[in-house]
Amino acid sequence: PYPYYAELRRAAPVSVIDPGEIWAISRYDDVVSVLKNPAVFSSQGLRAATEQPWAGYNPLTDSLVLLDPPRHTAIRSLVNHAFTLRVLPRVEPLARKVARAFAERASRGLEVDICDDLATTLPAQVIGNLLGLDDACDKFRTWSETIVAISPGTPEALRPSIVASIAELGQYLEEVFEDRRRARRDDLASDLLDAEIDGRRLDQAELMSFMFVLFVAGFETTTHLLVNSLRILAERPELLARLREAPSVIPHFVEEALRFDPSVHVTLRVATRDTEIAGVPLPAGAVVAALLASANRDETRYEHADRFDVDRDRKPSVAFGHGIHFCLGAPLARAETRIAFEELVPRVGAIHVTQEPTWNCGLTVRGVTSCRMRFEPL
Ligand code: HEM
Repeated sequence: PYPYYAELRRAAPVSVIDPGEIWAISRYDDVVSVLKNPAVFSSQGLRAATEQPWAGYNPLTDSLVLLDPPRHTAIRSLVNHAFTLRVLPRVEPLARKVARAFAERASRGLEVDICDDLATTLPAQVIGNLLGLDDACDKFRTWSETIVAISPGTPEALRPSIVASIAELGQYLEEVFEDRRRARRDDLASDLLDAEIDGRRLDQAELMSFMFVLFVAGFETTTHLLVNSLRILAERPELLARLREAPSVIPHFVEEALRFDPSVHVTLRVATRDTEIAGVPLPAGAVVAALLASANRDETRYEHADRFDVDRDRKPSVAFGHGIHFCLGAPLARAETRIAFEELVPRVGAIHVTQEPTWNCGLTVRGVTSCRMRFEPL
C-alpha cells in the first residue's frame, strides 16, 4: 500500500474513498490534528460499526477505544493505573524466558512458520499472564483473528466464526472472573475486581469490556510487529550484524520498524459537526480514516521516509496513535519486541524468508498470517 499512500499524500491528502462516507487523511500533520481533536473527530461515533445485529452483544462496543471524554478519561485512568503497575516488573522475565527458548532453538538452525511460533507464543504468554488468561493461550489466535474482522462490511460467510469467537471468549472471561471472585490471584482480572470508578466497583459489563479490549488490542498487533521486524532484518543482513555488534541500537531498530511498517495502518473517527481538514470541507457524520502508516512515511516529516534507517532523527511516529487514545500497551509491545531481539540477535547468523508470506485482509490490524523463516547458526 505504500506507493498508494505516497500518491494520496502528493495528489489528494484529504480524499474521498467512499463518496459521501469516508475521507482518507494521509499526511502526518493532518492525521495528528484529527487525533488531537476528539471533540470534532469522535471515536464514540464509531460504535455503530461494532454494533452489528448479527454479532449479538459485543463487549468491544463499550470499551475505551470507542469512548470520548469525559467517560474515556475516567476509564482510561483506571486501566492505566492497573495496567502500568503490573506491566513493567512482570513482562521482562517472562518475555525473556520465552524469547530465549526460541533463540536457543534458532541458534542450532531452524525453519518454522514464525506466525505459528515465536510471533504468537510470545505475545500470547505475556498478555495471558498479565491478564490472568494463561490456560487459554492456545485459543488466542483464533479468537483474535476472527474478532478483529468485525465491521459493517464483514462477509456473510465469516460471520458465524466471529459470533462463535465472541461467545467463546465471553464465556471464558466470565469463568475467569467467577474464579477470581472466589480467590484473587496476581493478575489484572483480580485487580479489576477491586478497582473503583466514581466511587463504585465495576459492573460485569465493564469488567468484560476491559478484558476484551486489552486482549484484542494487545495480542495480534504485537505478533505483526514481531513478524514485520524479523522480515526487515531478513532483508538486511548488514543490520543484523550491526545489532549484534551494538545491542544498544535494538530499541531504535524497534522504533524504526514501528514507523516503517506499523501493525495498525488506519484508525477511524466520525466528524461531530461540519468541519474542514487542510481546507477540504467535511460534513457532520463524515467518517475520517486517519492513515497512520501513511503519516509515518510523510517525506515532509521524515527525510528519505521510504528508507529503513535506525540512525534517523528520533521523531516519534504515529504507529501507536496520538492524543488521548494513544496506545495503552505501547511500553509493553516495545519491551516484548526489544527483548525478543536481544535474545535472538546474538545467537543467529542469518535470517531468511523461505516462502512468500500470506497477508490478512485488514487495514486496521494489518500483517501476515503465515511466514516461513529459516534461522542459520552463527
Ligand atoms: C490503542 C497500536 C499493542 C492496548 C492503540 C492505538 C493504536 C495502537 C494505533 C490508537 C487507536 C485509536 O486512536 O483509535 C498498537 C500497536 C501495537 C499495540 C501497533 C503493537 C505493536 C498493544 C498492547 C496493548 C494495547 C500490547 C495492551 C495489552 C491498547 C488499548 C488501546 C490501544 C487498550 C485503546 C486506548 C484508548 O482508547 O485510550 N493501539 N497497539 N495495544 N491499544 Fe495498542
